[in-house]
Amino acid sequence: MRGIFITMEGPDGSGKSTQAKRLFEYLRGKGYNVVLTREPGGTSVGEQIRNILLNPDNSELGFKTEVLLYAASRAQHLEEVIIPALKEGKTVISDRFVDSSIAYQGYGRSLNLPLVVEINRLVVENYMPDLTILLDLPVEVGLERIRKKQKSMDRLEQEAISFHEQVYHGFKKLAFNEKRIKTVSADGSEDMIFAHIVKMVEEKLKEVNLIV
Ligand code: TYD
Repeated sequence: MRGIFITMEGPDGSGKSTQAKRLFEYLRGKGYNVVLTREPGGTSVGEQIRNILLNPDNSELGFKTEVLLYAASRAQHLEEVIIPALKEGKTVISDRFVDSSIAYQGYGRSLNLPLVVEINRLVVENYMPDLTILLDLPVEVGLERIRKKQKSMDRLEQEAISFHEQVYHGFKKLAFNEKRIKTVSADGSEDMIFAHIVKMVEEKLKEVNLIV
């Protein structure tokens, strides 16, 4: 039996990495065989691609190159980590996946949206997530959290506020159109947000008869 594939998405500073880690610990504690991974990255090749993508020195990186590099990292991630784990019946949690490319490259960079969708369709094939948690946080709040928490900002985080607003709009549009995406407000206490996420995940596990 194929395992369940969960992705966590959201604008920068939405706290999804913290919540992904908590979800991983929670499910593991319940006896699930869980893999926690991330994009861009998740593999040795992917982490090298991540360094290119996030390095602020790479200001000359073109938008088409960017979409292809994220897709390349994803292809490697699927082949090396996600597909084998799902085939072994494991639960996979990925901190970001294909929706980030639609939101950041498709909407944020205003690239030809059908092209971004098509590139990713070729990469993802039938391995779309079973459930996607979208952490919803106003752009300004997320960026302020990053400014307070981090010493420096990566290449994407340094983009203009208008870029981040477009990304946010992209995520909202995706959530409106896709039943798979469940929106959780990220403007609250960490515990409250986590409780909401657990509710969504347990509903999904029940639906696919994977509750333990
Ligand atoms: P992330 O790992 O969430 O950053 P951090 O660890 O600093 O919180 O993601 C890195 C950046 O890459 C983030 O700004 C979103 C962006 N991104 C895309 O633009 N497209 C994609 O397909 C993915 C997966 C991420």
